[in-house]
Amino acid sequence: MAKLAKIPPGVGPRHPQVVVLVGATGDLSRRKLLPGLFHLSRAGFIPGCRIVGVSLDQIDTEGFRKIAREALDQFSSRAVKEADWSAFADTLDYVPISGGAVVLKAAIKGAETKLGGESRRLHYLSVPPNAALSAVRLLADADLVDRSRIVMEKPFGTDLASAVSLNAKLHEVFAEDQIFRIDHFLGKEPAQNILAFRFANGLFEPIWNRNFIDHVQIDVPEKIGLGKRAAFYEATGAYRDMVVTHLFQILAFMAMEPPTSLEPVPISEEKNKVFRSMSPIDPKNVVRGQYAGYRAEDGVDPESDTETFIALKCAIDNWRWAGVPFFLRTGKQLAEGQRIISIAFREPPKSMFPVGSGVGAQGPDHLTFDLADASKMSLSFYGKRPGPGMRLDKLSLQFAMHDTGMAGDVLEAYERLILDAMRGDHTLFTTAEGIERLWEVSTPLLEAPPPVRLYPPGGWGPKSIHQLVAPHAWRLPFERVWRDPNPEGH
Ligand code: BG6
Repeated sequence: MAKLAKIPPGVGPRHPQVVVLVGATGDLSRRKLLPGLFHLSRAGFIPGCRIVGVSLDQIDTEGFRKIAREALDQFSSRAVKEADWSAFADTLDYVPISGGAVVLKAAIKGAETKLGGESRRLHYLSVPPNAALSAVRLLADADLVDRSRIVMEKPFGTDLASAVSLNAKLHEVFAEDQIFRIDHFLGKEPAQNILAFRFANGLFEPIWNRNFIDHVQIDVPEKIGLGKRAAFYEATGAYRDMVVTHLFQILAFMAMEPPTSLEPVPISEEKNKVFRSMSPIDPKNVVRGQYAGYRAEDGVDPESDTETFIALKCAIDNWRWAGVPFFLRTGKQLAEGQRIISIAFREPPKSMFPVGSGVGAQGPDHLTFDLADASKMSLSFYGKRPGPGMRLDKLSLQFAMHDTGMAGDVLEAYERLILDAMRGDHTLFTTAEGIERLWEVSTPLLEAPPPVRLYPPGGWGPKSIHQLVAPHAWRLPFERVWRDPNPEGH
């Protein structure tokens, strides 16, 4: 069981917080948000905090507390002690959405009175896209816009026109600096570690460009299928669910120029420059797949054209990256669940090693980031096999956060992002401009998607993914597995 994080001073919000959790009984809330808020409260990150649950369900505060308790028992990654639970349960209130603006406002005022002093509101909209704008209007009618921040869940539109319209309607009520568009991949500790790795070290910066890097892969295969999300997924598909959100955001961290400072605005500027430099996605460079059996799933159209898999090649046409292909892949029901960024370095200009020595036989040198919950990294290179002659093997330097004994301090992505939103820190959130640009580069693909190709569940996608990366090869499945950092189980 993870131990409690040590809390450095100043990491919590400056004011007590009332969290208005819209969609409080839904899947995301039960899996991530309630367990996350529980951990943040218990660990002392947010000492003054009350949560007002809001949803379509006609339940009362007791009913909501019961749902929250069940959610913690089922989904919290940490033990739930009775004393912690009862302190947390006391901070939970509930109003059904049918009560309207007056009832909601009274509940928030009640929570604020209990907190005392000057508090802030964090509206967390964990609702489907078609419900988000009516929730925003409800908040406006209840006069809950002042002293507030609002966290929005994806999808932020489904194409350029809908994203522009969504942002415009949002801006009628909330100013851009009040809006926190969440992309939970950016809250993952290893994603932030990309920034630390790149900008805190001189070692790799000189080679972080087209002169030394041959190509990049961002590969996020998933073993899981649809679960109970058929309705959402049918209308969304792998590209909108994963690529235009998570994978492009990770790509921006990997590819951006050093920001002028590690502050939200300079970081967003550099990310947006990456998006502006991206070439429009050419449908010829895209493989769309659908796992065999998808059309027979409950809630799926028997003639569905939705992709459950996508692989694509994209280009960042700027001085640093011109000519370096970025290969992205993700899909459901694949052989393994992995989240890696793999950077392939150029091979040496000339090899003096004898034929059969093994040089180059196992692909180029790679720097690999594993975005699993605690960071892992590896740098692979050719080295000499011990003994006579000159035979080469692929070796690697590997780091795992578990080696440091600090893996227990890792905040889960949602915990980190909720805390940042309470503190008003936009660093790990996406902007309207960035999102709109990503939809703009997606337009050719959305207008003329290539046909979906069937692939067998448990594989790596349709066969044509190999032509997409040729003459390179997909890095996954790994030829050499990660070393177990704790082989003796100590
Ligand atoms: C979500 C997608 O945003 O991210 C899911 O909607 C996907 O389809 C999930 O499974 C993956 O997140 P994680 O943190 O489990 O890698």
